[in-house]
Amino acid sequence: MPSHLRLGVNIDHVATVRNARGGTEPDTVRAAHLIARGGGDSITAHLREDRRHITDRDIKRLKAEVPLPLNMEMAATDEMVGIALAVRPHAVCIVPERRAELTTEGGLDVVSARAALSPRIAKLNGAGIQVALFIDPDPVQVDATKEVGAPALEFHTGEYCNAPDGVTPMGRTRAKELKRLEEASTHAARLGLEVHAGHGLIVTNVGPVARIPEIVELNIGHAIVAEAIFVGFEAAIRSMRAAMDRGRGQGSAAHAAPSKSAVR
Ligand code: PXP
Repeated sequence: MPSHLRLGVNIDHVATVRNARGGTEPDTVRAAHLIARGGGDSITAHLREDRRHITDRDIKRLKAEVPLPLNMEMAATDEMVGIALAVRPHAVCIVPERRAELTTEGGLDVVSARAALSPRIAKLNGAGIQVALFIDPDPVQVDATKEVGAPALEFHTGEYCNAPDGVTPMGRTRAKELKRLEEASTHAARLGLEVHAGHGLIVTNVGPVARIPEIVELNIGHAIVAEAIFVGFEAAIRSMRAAMDRGRGQGSAAHAAPSKSAVR
């Protein structure tokens, strides 16, 4: 089992709450400073085309004021590549974006977008920014990720999280979705790609994903920010960290047990 499973804490919804009143609170930089104290390893923030939560100013301040690695999620547009090259986050995760969606609703179709992705990835690689592509756990998309020159990928875990435990009319079950993730992770690692995962993960479903040995990073946001309302941001991160460590088989007395409200 590889050693540490990194936790990237997505702070988009700290900005969502701030923007609800148009002021400055809660401050994304203050939240980012708490990530390490809760056992997180990096900041994840999605600069969407419509700037519905994270803003350009957030990204600049997060890079300048917080000493943790910054993973900027973004669409593969020239505007976003320009911002990334100017700000120089540690990493970018390229996601598909549709204006009307509530959240990122599926993985990138790398196969169809090869021509658009390759030159943009080359520019980011050239600037020393790690590029991950957000894709479904599909071997065809994994192969295409390798072909377009991205050194990393992030598997969309939404299907796994949404699948019921029992059999469905479509035949999709949580166990089948987990197997897809496991097989795609093995395939990606064999190709030399760094494997991340995220979307929809909560304290009670993160364990089996954390157990996949090829996965080295999880990016988790909504569940942490939601739990933070009840227990505080640092404690919510700590609960997720502990659930990940238990899943990985690395539980430690140093990590607090999840709060009662986190276990549902
Ligand atoms: N990874 C990516 C690429 C995402 O777009 C998101 C959602 O912003 C996440 C991870 C985190 O998902 P969640 O907020 O459901 O934990």
